[in-house]
Amino acid sequence: MKNFTKKAQLQQHLQSLRAGGAVIGFVPTMGALHAGHLSLIEQAQQQCDIVVCSIFVNPTQFNDPKDLEIYPRPIQDDIAKLTQAGCDLLFNPDVAEMYADNEKWHLDIGELEALLEGKFRPGHYQGVTQVVFKLFDIVKPDVAFFGQKDYQQVLVITQMVKLLNMPVKLVMCPIEREADGLAMSSRNIHLTADDRQHALILSKTLNNVKTKFDRNHIEQLVQNARAAINAEPGVTLGYFEIADGNTLRPAGNNTKKVVALVAATVGKTRLIDNVIVRD
Ligand code: PAF
Repeated sequence: MKNFTKKAQLQQHLQSLRAGGAVIGFVPTMGALHAGHLSLIEQAQQQCDIVVCSIFVNPTQFNDPKDLEIYPRPIQDDIAKLTQAGCDLLFNPDVAEMYADNEKWHLDIGELEALLEGKFRPGHYQGVTQVVFKLFDIVKPDVAFFGQKDYQQVLVITQMVKLLNMPVKLVMCPIEREADGLAMSSRNIHLTADDRQHALILSKTLNNVKTKFDRNHIEQLVQNARAAINAEPGVTLGYFEIADGNTLRPAGNNTKKVVALVAATVGKTRLIDNVIVRD
């Protein structure tokens, strides 16, 4: 795997590959890679000739400086995992390579960035669209791969690509889970053994909603789900919603694509998870 820290060098290298007709796949990450990320690399390898992975802990998408400070950065371990997975190129810039001093601009992609996660983490999706815009501009991928675990992020980026007519195809890959159902996340590293057990209430509740889903009783299902999570020791519910899978507004009787989404703090760690209930 070739490792680039400077965008000009990566761009030059990609230009020659593109000139040779290679289809470029891109997996943007913030590192602390787990099987979920590696499944994105695998998908990209199946669909593209060259796979670029970026590792960049983007400061502008953290609204809590403490969260940014403790975000795991096991770069040597990540490089070993990517090499083992057969990733072709790594882009691992520092903050100065990605942002000018005092750089302040954001895209307005509308209501989607203010709902659910956006409400709990104001400015988060502005930081995400800002950095993904920059990364897409540098890598110019044909196809980019994102995990379903950040379902709202996929919708937000889809909306950005649509509004700006960006020539990239987006692929959403399924959530990778531990054997007991916990959604894989770079943040799981912060869970204590007790937290880890309590966190299972999130995937259990989502599965329960999927099994029992009935368009006429959405409110009741939401109430029961919230009650189950609130009853779990050590877990503080942020939100649990059954939403329209395209707009993230509350689902109604006629909603075609339905997704259940949850966010909760388990011990000191904020986790998100979701399940597509009807497609
Ligand atoms: O999902 C992530 O890891 C990040 O939000 C992303 C897309 C790499 C942007 O920093």
